[in-house]
Amino acid sequence: MSQVSRRVSVRTLDRDEWAIHRQVRLAALDTNPEAFGATLVSQQLLDEADWRRRVDDRSWFAFLDTEPVGMVRLWYDPCTKPVPEVIALWVAPPARRAGVARQLMLTAVGTAQRLAGCADLWVSLDNTAARGLYQSLGFQPTGSTQSTSDGRPEMHMRLPRR
Ligand SMILES: CC(C)(COP(=O)(O)OP(=O)(O)OC[C@H]1O[C@@H](n2cnc3c(N)ncnc32)[C@H](O)[C@@H]1OP(=O)(O)O)[C@@H](O)C(=O)NCCC(=O)NCCS
Repeated sequence: MSQVSRRVSVRTLDRDEWAIHRQVRLAALDTNPEAFGATLVSQQLLDEADWRRRVDDRSWFAFLDTEPVGMVRLWYDPCTKPVPEVIALWVAPPARRAGVARQLMLTAVGTAQRLAGCADLWVSLDNTAARGLYQSLGFQPTGSTQSTSDGRPEMHMRLPRR
């Protein structure tokens, strides 16, 4: 294990740490707009109250020491979204290839399995990095596909019930 991966921690935020969510989310949309449905401009319009509302116990943030370097969220509602969906996974470029996304995913997937026994997600066909990560965690293509807002194909993957 490298020096970098030894300093990684993953946790949820307290309500008063809402600015960390904003910082990481805006960096993600600025750096990798192709990976997300939301736009940077739309999220820049959100105010403090909006970000405070978004702090929850299903959004996890990765830190290198005290520096926030990534995030992932789980979209789940027992009535309307009974299979938890992994969304908003992102790691800052300088922190990549050090196992940060894997730690974020293990946290989100562990929660999904406790909540519902399974998880799913959508990933662009051309996102080889994310697809490799998801496959290594046991996610399998379901055969469903759709187009992103900018017209690129993306595939549906599911982590089957154990
Ligand atoms: C995809 C992403 C989250 C990976 O983050 P990361 O912290 O670098 O990933 P990890 O170091 O935990 O790597 C985990 C696995 O992912 C795969 N992977 C990660 N980066 C890769 C790359 N550049 N090329 C190929 N495979 C890659 C590998 O299977 C890797 O396992 P290994 O290190 O044992 O080979 C990061 O590149 C990112 O934020 N990309 C932009 C946003 C994005 O695509 N989000 C996903 C939307 S569905």
